[in-house]
Amino acid sequence: MKTASHLPHPSPVQLALEGGPPAVRAKPQPLIRWGDPERQRLAEMIGQPSLFYWNGPQTRLLVERFRAIFSLSHVMPCSSGTAAIHIAVQAAGIAPGDEVITSPITDMGTVIGILYQQGVPVFADLEADRYNLDPADVRRKITPRTKAILAVHLAGNPCDLARLRAIADEHRLVLIEDCAQAWGARWQGRPVGTVGDLGCWSLNDFKHIGSGDGGIVATNQPRFGALLQRCGDKAYDREKKTRAPEFLAPNYRISEPQSAVAAEQMLRMEEIAAARGRLGMLLGEKLRGIPGIQLPRVEENDSCSFWFFMLRMDPSAFRCDRATFVEALCAEGVLAGAGYIPTPLYRYPAFQNHNFFGGRWPVKDFGLTTMDYREVRCPEAEGILETAILLQLNQGMTETFILETAEAFRKVAAHYRK
Ligand SMILES: Cc1ncc(COP(=O)(O)O)c(C=O)c1O
Repeated sequence: MKTASHLPHPSPVQLALEGGPPAVRAKPQPLIRWGDPERQRLAEMIGQPSLFYWNGPQTRLLVERFRAIFSLSHVMPCSSGTAAIHIAVQAAGIAPGDEVITSPITDMGTVIGILYQQGVPVFADLEADRYNLDPADVRRKITPRTKAILAVHLAGNPCDLARLRAIADEHRLVLIEDCAQAWGARWQGRPVGTVGDLGCWSLNDFKHIGSGDGGIVATNQPRFGALLQRCGDKAYDREKKTRAPEFLAPNYRISEPQSAVAAEQMLRMEEIAAARGRLGMLLGEKLRGIPGIQLPRVEENDSCSFWFFMLRMDPSAFRCDRATFVEALCAEGVLAGAGYIPTPLYRYPAFQNHNFFGGRWPVKDFGLTTMDYREVRCPEAEGILETAILLQLNQGMTETFILETAEAFRKVAAHYRK
């Protein structure tokens, strides 16, 4: 009988999936996101007579700290990113049947507000290597009913804001930026969210910074700014102290505990975004040139805040399918997943069945739109989701972990190369 020392030693290039040693040896530490500053602020808050947002000191502080970074004059903290976008859509004046052009690869929160305002989400196709709205397709999707473009900076990578801004100006459309995944990202040096007419952010538990849940919507334009507070607070006017709603609006108020945490998180935001940006760019550099792998493109002079790192795999270049490739990555210790959302939004049952309000879609029933989501196709977006590999990334990861992740990726790619 052979003793252990006589067993053949696994080759260093043998996949971990097949019994070899994993390429990632540095274990990522659990991310510590809150600490003494949040604890102290919450303790201070508990001494307050009220936890109501309006004129609450925590919410005021949150606004002040947000403004110091974004220099936007009208700021409405609210209960979620979904709420922020709904408020923006309502402030933009989207009326029944109005079309809003947006991305098919995003969270439902991007489109919920459009649908609640009885607007019509129109999905435009995406850039193959940045996964954001393709301005050429946005242009093709414009009709006389188009009122706005809702641009999502997916995974923290800025959209082509120069071209989207130009299209919006040319066609007198409102440009709304969904920055839920893009805290701290910069387009040509400017913070995303400040180029469009309205910017929207999420403070949910999974974003760069968070307060459990929460959101912020902001603008520099008085015509939208004057509406933000009312659109998120039952149309009550807290400034004028009047309770005479002139339109319908939900209660999307933030609360002081959320603001207290968010105000401290805001001080960490740029550092977190910069750390993610640095690690994401390093990972991209170390993965460059692998045949069959298409990396995400970050435009020169833009900074991506990498909420995650998503690349694409050309299945024809490998001897395995994506699921096996990802399984092999995970066995090596890479934090990887196959794809992002399961399908483009328009393939979700709610869209396929036009089931938005109790099995009905009033704008269609009343002839205000001819949209049929069963016929919508965005080939590039579909291709992205079929070929995407998502690598987790966060500010707590070490450079060593990133380098070993790249090493592991190269090992798996080399093993399965055709
Ligand atoms: C791109 C995008 N938009 C909107 C939202 C909605 O944000 P929330 O979950 O805070 O409502 C999310 C959240 O995942 C998102 O990723």
